Amino acid sequence: MSQDVWTSVDRYIAEQFIPEDAALDEALRESARAGLPSIAVSAAQGKWLHLLARAVGARRILEIGTLGGYSGIWLARALPAGGRLTTLELDAAHAEVARKNFVRAGLGDAIEIRLGPALQTLPTLRGPFDLIFIDADKPGYTDYFGWAVRLARPGALIIADNVVRNGAIVEPRSADTAVRGIQRFNAAVAAEPRVTATALQTVGIKGYDGFAVILVEPS
Ligand code: SAH
Ligand code: DHB
Ligand code: MG
Repeated sequence: MSQDVWTSVDRYIAEQFIPEDAALDEALRESARAGLPSIAVSAAQGKWLHLLARAVGARRILEIGTLGGYSGIWLARALPAGGRLTTLELDAAHAEVARKNFVRAGLGDAIEIRLGPALQTLPTLRGPFDLIFIDADKPGYTDYFGWAVRLARPGALIIADNVVRNGAIVEPRSADTAVRGIQRFNAAVAAEPRVTATALQTVGIKGYDGFAVILVEPS
């Protein structure tokens, strides 16, 4: 039971639960056309993020790592009228693809893209955010988590992608800087008294990975 089955089941889940969607399809098509890497969340994961945002009634959402805007569309569609997604992106070419995808999705007014290294844009942001999605460079995750806790409202949810990395996360002396970054992040989350957290392993069209699910304790 592995990649072929995970892929088929992800396709099945998408067929069952995720209707054809021109804006999302075009966001992926335009991202590929512009040469962006195919590392956006899957459809099932995107809808899961959307459902979480709605379940917590998020009005202000922060995303770290925009890419072509695929996860951003899912998240922004969960916002009520007047709600806002702020999404941080290092690469100007990625941000430009995302900007067009957001406009095409009718979300241009609800989303603000902040261009630059997240460590430079995060200190300029004003919270509080109700939901924060961390999905940028993995060595940066621990710092992004620190900022996320500062910018979150009490009771907010922080989600982080890619915290299992095909199981490499249990290797004690990995040479992979991404794996080491995630290991440091997971340890920092576990040691942070202001939050309570877990991680969920996932398989699917993107292989074997996982999400951290972190609740900022109400103070
Ligand atoms: N959330 C997206 C995927 C993000 S991929 C989706 O699911 O659709 C990771 C993105 O983080 C890439 O676009 C990359 O350029 C960006 N990134 C990498 N380092 C960064 C940094 N220091 N600051 C902000 N963004 C960064
Ligand atoms: C990579 C980054 C991601 O955010 C992801 O979801 C999958 C892969 C990567 O950098 O390889
Ligand atoms: Mg990711």
